[in-house]
Amino acid sequence: RDDGLARTPPMGWMAWERFRCETNCTDNPKNCISEELFRDMADRLSEDGWRELGYKYLIIDDCWMSTQRDKEGRLQPDPVRFPGGIPRLARYVHDRGLKLGIYADLGTHTCMGFPGTPLNKIQVDAQTFASWGVDYLKFDGCYSNAVEHMLGYPVMSEALNATGRPIVYSCSWPVYQGGLPPDINYTLLGEICHLWRNYVDIQDSWDSVEGIIDWFFNNQDDLQPAAGPGRWNDPDMLIIGNFGLSVDQARSQMALWAIMASPLIMSNDLRDLDPAMRAILQNKLVIAINQDPAGFQGRRLLKEKSGIQVFWRPLSHSYIALVFLSLRRDMPYRYSTCLSKLNISAGVYQVYDVFKSSTLPQINSTTDFTVTINPSGVVMWLIAPETQTRSEFRG
Ligand code: DGJ
Repeated sequence: RDDGLARTPPMGWMAWERFRCETNCTDNPKNCISEELFRDMADRLSEDGWRELGYKYLIIDDCWMSTQRDKEGRLQPDPVRFPGGIPRLARYVHDRGLKLGIYADLGTHTCMGFPGTPLNKIQVDAQTFASWGVDYLKFDGCYSNAVEHMLGYPVMSEALNATGRPIVYSCSWPVYQGGLPPDINYTLLGEICHLWRNYVDIQDSWDSVEGIIDWFFNNQDDLQPAAGPGRWNDPDMLIIGNFGLSVDQARSQMALWAIMASPLIMSNDLRDLDPAMRAILQNKLVIAINQDPAGFQGRRLLKEKSGIQVFWRPLSHSYIALVFLSLRRDMPYRYSTCLSKLNISAGVYQVYDVFKSSTLPQINSTTDFTVTINPSGVVMWLIAPETQTRSEFRG
């Protein structure tokens, strides 16, 4: 949506993949969907260096609501789990220089059975969120049909606009209609939403991440042109720091999300994060690649029989990001190629290895080189034509 918001992919934290629909605060007080959980995460985002890196949206997902609307027909949070209501939480979040996101569902119920937002409640819910100080809405699509989606997603866009409050609008519409044209009109989505979920929910495993990468790049001709400043494909949350990914696999998720210009929305426990995982999520260069202002989504260039795939994203100032991904399961693989085989124009290039944080010797586009890629791991390069000043590399 072209209103000045989300000019680069949104970054932040969202509860769903890690904390799901845990509502039992009696037995599981530290891990239930509650005001306290979001306060804890707001503290971590603001005190552990995340906010400065751009991770500023703290997003509530499903299961925050009371089972009933209030007497005036407005949504309300569970009174026990959110004793201060959403406005108090919004103040807490804003006081820390962060932004608050919330979740609703176009339909009779949310996916987990809490009150939904049917067509006739869209205006009142948009007004309620704006009056609470909400800055981001994830609008899910359970318990409604294709016609209701077609009507409801644009109406919510208008309703948010009408509140006068800048609210980033994330639409789950494509997920429920197969995610591809002709059922999904990406031109329309780009006009009404800032981002949209295209495909199935991420789970805490490499199989899930690999399946998502595969689907997005198999369909890149439809998806890649849809993205740009203010309109982003969303392959779902970063699961780095949970239980399912090795360090190599975590780098792979981060690298591919950067190539895809994807929202960087973590779902993990920021109170308890492995230092190696934190370093991946806080890698400044991979974040800068993700956040490149040109907002051009990258593409897969090659899918080799060996299981090696090569991805490419052109960036501002003639920089280019390259990712070599191995889908092998045996051992580190030595892959030889040269830049001229990778869509890159003739010349001499400086090369920086993003996860090793080291500059490699300059190479000519026609010189063969070999990268060693771990199983389900990546090598990620940032390259620049030799004429670029060296100092820009350190930024
Ligand atoms: C389906 C969405 O795709 C998930 O991200 C999450 O919001 C759940 N619904 C919540 O019920």
